[in-house]
Amino acid sequence: MTFLKQIGRRRFIGMLGGTALMGAVPGAVQSVQSAAIATGAFTPDLEIELRAVPDQIPLYRGAPTHVWRYRAKVIKGDARAVSHQPGSPLGPVIRVHRGTRVRIHFINEVSQPSVVHWHGLLVPDAADGHPRFAVGPGGRYVYEFEVINRAGTYWFHPHPHGMTGSQVYAGLTGLFIVSDDEEQALGLPAGERDVSLVIQDRSFTRDNQLQYIGNGPGMMGMMSSMTGFLGDRIHVNGRPDYMLAAERRPYRLRLVNGSNSRIYKLAWYDGTPLTVIGTDGGLLAAPVNRPYVTLAPSERIELWVDFSSRAAGEELNLVSLPFVASSGGGMMGRGMMGGGPAQGSAFPVLKVRMGQRAAVSEKLPGKLASIPALHPEQAHNLNNPRPIRVTASGMRWSLNGRLFEMEGVANDEVVRLGTTEVWEFINEAGMGMMGSMPHPMHVHGVQFRIIDRRVHPGAMAAWRSVSEGYVDEGWKDTALVMPGERVRVLMRFEHYPGLFLYHCHNLEHEDMGMMRNYLIKA
Ligand code: C2O
Ligand code: CU
Ligand code: CU
Repeated sequence: MTFLKQIGRRRFIGMLGGTALMGAVPGAVQSVQSAAIATGAFTPDLEIELRAVPDQIPLYRGAPTHVWRYRAKVIKGDARAVSHQPGSPLGPVIRVHRGTRVRIHFINEVSQPSVVHWHGLLVPDAADGHPRFAVGPGGRYVYEFEVINRAGTYWFHPHPHGMTGSQVYAGLTGLFIVSDDEEQALGLPAGERDVSLVIQDRSFTRDNQLQYIGNGPGMMGMMSSMTGFLGDRIHVNGRPDYMLAAERRPYRLRLVNGSNSRIYKLAWYDGTPLTVIGTDGGLLAAPVNRPYVTLAPSERIELWVDFSSRAAGEELNLVSLPFVASSGGGMMGRGMMGGGPAQGSAFPVLKVRMGQRAAVSEKLPGKLASIPALHPEQAHNLNNPRPIRVTASGMRWSLNGRLFEMEGVANDEVVRLGTTEVWEFINEAGMGMMGSMPHPMHVHGVQFRIIDRRVHPGAMAAWRSVSEGYVDEGWKDTALVMPGERVRVLMRFEHYPGLFLYHCHNLEHEDMGMMRNYLIKA
């Protein structure tokens, strides 16, 4: 737990104490869990060993930084399926083709209970990384699933209740990239020109250790649980001052917001518009242009960027533009949280430097993927959407007035396998004194479509400062819901029955209980 150094023993104990209070560690006593029981005979095409381990890595001049990271190796199948980015403290990139049957042996070698969630992937509930399956230090868990998702950028991270924020912050983050035949036929930039960029904000102590203020007692803990942790430096793929050396050719950039709470409003500093080709659930039907893209925690955006018109040696800056993050007269918009600049502050994100080789241009196909037309009338409850209301219980955010319960599902949290529903995320809490804030709402077990958004007239300033950067055209698993905003989404529960989660992906909110189970009933 060296990464929690500066915060001191008191807060560390406070964090664990809070966790124990919420009864979050039943899984800690299990040492071996296997999803194999549920699936019977399963013959994997690819078998991976994935460890969560403590490590140290030089990031800044002086002392190395203590991190927790995933390390993986292929034990059966194509060895190229796993790669580690050199010099990055982040976990591996796993690349598979749709249809691959995967078995992953997770081994927990860190000092807290943990469990791995495959964010965005459609997997059986026993393989989804629910906190009830957390295994203690030294514990193992076997995940088995067939990759049924479309080609796209998915990712994985810990999901133990009450400790997701601190473990992701410590470095436990990896990518799971899926390709399929439809995507491969497009001839999009590949190899060196297919680049994943995980964006995270971090704060450091003077001796280069990660500084995290989680949900603890006292004023700082309380503020952190309300706003989420905000760091003061931007890391890309786990490293500061990220520079991408590029050829003057088109690139595919996969942007992942792996931050605990920070939202980015990403743009080229010189004002060049962005060409978006994909979102959380894979490629769009056709490319769309945006002046900037809004990327909330856990969301992914894929860009097609043509560097062929750039000069040799030219440098380009990707930045996060300022925006208004709160509404109401409350405390949410002000001040320094977790030592870092407030939500909505401007940041440089990364640099691209053009190489000297001759420029080569290529065409981006006008049609990318087949995506079914949006038919909200297919839902049985179009006129009566299931409301998911952001509420505040004391000084904690909650959902429909409830906090997370490990096994608890309310009557209104049960859906039927094989049905299509509209859910409406409603973020109208705290419009007064407390001030309202953004919540990126994520649902496990599905990819959904966004039907529409509406915004409270009192919250227009915040909404207008990010809404041109929404990319709502394709498949999504997370929707940013700004202060005063309501978002209707269409989802079909068609894959696996079982207990899944929906929650705010502001990880401090999630850890404090802004998360619920829902049951997909066969
Ligand atoms: Cu990436 Cu339950 O979340
Ligand atoms: Cu998820
Ligand atoms: Cu939230």
